[in-house]
Amino acid sequence: MRHSVVAACILFAPVIACSSSDPSGSGPTPPIGAGGTISGGAAGVGQSGSISGNGFGGGTAGGGNGTSGGSNTSGNGGTGSTGGNASGLPCDVAAVLQARCQTCHGAMPLFGAPMPLVTYADTQAPSRTNASRKVWQAMSTRVHDPTSPMPPRSQPSLTTAELAALDAWFGAGAPSSMEACGAGGGGGSDGGGGSVDPNAGVGPQYLPCTPTHVLTAHASGSMTAKYPVPNPTSDSYVCFNFKSPFKAGEQATAFAPIIGDARVIHHWILYGTNSNLTDGSISNNCQIASVADTHITGWAPGGNNTVLDDDVGLVLDYAFFQLQIHYNNQQYADGADASGVAFCTTQTPRQNAAGIVTLGTMLFSIPANANDFAVNSTCSNLASDGKTAMTVIGTSPHMHLLGTGFRTTHTRGGMDMGNLSDVPLGTWSFDNQKHYVVNPRRQVMPGDTLKTTCYYDNPTSSAVSFGTRTRDEMCFDFITVYPYSAATKNCSSFF
Ligand code: HEC
Repeated sequence: MRHSVVAACILFAPVIACSSSDPSGSGPTPPIGAGGTISGGAAGVGQSGSISGNGFGGGTAGGGNGTSGGSNTSGNGGTGSTGGNASGLPCDVAAVLQARCQTCHGAMPLFGAPMPLVTYADTQAPSRTNASRKVWQAMSTRVHDPTSPMPPRSQPSLTTAELAALDAWFGAGAPSSMEACGAGGGGGSDGGGGSVDPNAGVGPQYLPCTPTHVLTAHASGSMTAKYPVPNPTSDSYVCFNFKSPFKAGEQATAFAPIIGDARVIHHWILYGTNSNLTDGSISNNCQIASVADTHITGWAPGGNNTVLDDDVGLVLDYAFFQLQIHYNNQQYADGADASGVAFCTTQTPRQNAAGIVTLGTMLFSIPANANDFAVNSTCSNLASDGKTAMTVIGTSPHMHLLGTGFRTTHTRGGMDMGNLSDVPLGTWSFDNQKHYVVNPRRQVMPGDTLKTTCYYDNPTSSAVSFGTRTRDEMCFDFITVYPYSAATKNCSSFF
């Protein structure tokens, strides 16, 4: 599988203006994801020109808007801004917020972020979760919060220098500043023409194939109308249930996330299930339909397209699919969503028919007040016939909120063959359940042992055990293997 990695802004640029100017007159909003880090040309997207200088000046924002990605239309360079500092923030703080926070906390907050972090006034407003504190005080907590850090774990962490700039400002009581930030933004350079590179962006339009099936959020009673996202809601888990649209033997060759209302969607996970669900039904506060459900793919900000190698097709032999979406919508009355996933499929089976096998266990209990408590399970019969060599091409570790780290090791006669999955302690994020490509592909021979270890912190005063609700726990590694026909569907102490 190949994955492309691009900044979140690029994908949404056509939908949510990356270059909107701030109507409050407090200065232009720097284009999301701009700031010179992403070159429209290099990314082959052509949506935003690279920006030299910060667009904090009182003038017009730098930053070009290229038109269409994927076509060969070039973007135009933007107009340079003049000097000055209309944000009211010290320049180093403004620069960190622009580069590291405004992807989500822009003038129009995205991905469920509850407030903008653009101007000084934004930082002095009351925090939405605790009105007795100001936003900057909540910022000072969250940038050091080990369990739910900002930026979230789906994004790279702040550098020491970025953290130091923020901490110095918090330490001084978050004062305003009229400091002039450099000479103002230079004009954005031209966005290059988008080349036809399937890895250039995220979304169905960047797949090297035309999607044949989509599974998306929708309104009750209509598969095509958008889902009206309740407001205000901070943690709404909604499941959209679908009868499988795939024919017997049809294989997926690629899939891509569809991001509908980027303002309110936090993340989603697609499960395959053989439990009987009603096609088109919607369940609120949903939990997965059955413990035997399989995690197929997921998306969180920064997530990407999946394109399988030419010899591999993914078997999707489930009767039903369940798209579980987490919404955060504290402020948009008109939230309406059609997020989901688009699949390209083939009815001509590819050489290697791969499928998803579940490793892990349901037999565990995490004691109260536990720290990095380890839950182990072992799979020693990946091939159900005990003799077929299996090939692993991907893994998707799955735990819930208490997870801290995750590992699946692979040994042959006591010899370490290298980890199949490895999420280091302290880096697990429930909101960002990634699929990892195993590259080079890994051969698992009969007799080899795959040992899955899940690590948890349990800060509560009662034990937490396996269950399907978000507040219960899970310990699964959903691995993609071929030949799927010879695979044990659930390996190890699953039931
Ligand atoms: C990928 C998107 C994303 C990025 C980038 C991001 N945030 Fe957030 N932020 C969110 C979401 C979603 C929430 C609401 C859920 C939560 O609180 O975790 C949030 C909540 C917050 C809150 C809590 C607000 C309150 O009133 O309690 C603070 C403070 C915050 N973010 C600060 C920051 C800072 C500072 C940065 C940059 C250093 C940042 N965030 C980067 C998405 C993001």
